[in-house]
Amino acid sequence: MSEPEDNWQDLIAVADLEPNDATPVDHGKRALAVFDTTDGITVSDARCPHAGADLCDGYFDGTHIECPLHQGLFDARTGAACAAPATRPLRMITSRVVDGMVQIRI
Ligand code: FES
Repeated sequence: MSEPEDNWQDLIAVADLEPNDATPVDHGKRALAVFDTTDGITVSDARCPHAGADLCDGYFDGTHIECPLHQGLFDARTGAACAAPATRPLRMITSRVVDGMVQIRI
């Protein structure tokens, strides 16, 4: 069953992303991270689920984001926690790209 089109909201133009990096985007009161991964664009909460650091300040290698505070590691394509002290996954936001615009499903 597909979702109605009005559940999708524009987030940021692909042209405005940091190429091959993590771009911070505020969506209402929510801080999001948009990752330009080697496998496509993904979106997650920007706050690290370990202790809340801003993941957009971390090191991104095209697939994984390293938290700048305690160096927890996450797969930015799936949200999986890959290295301690990160144990809980990133909260990923369903996203897509339409006509050069990153959209998220609300
Ligand atoms: S705040 Fe990210 S690993 Fe601790």
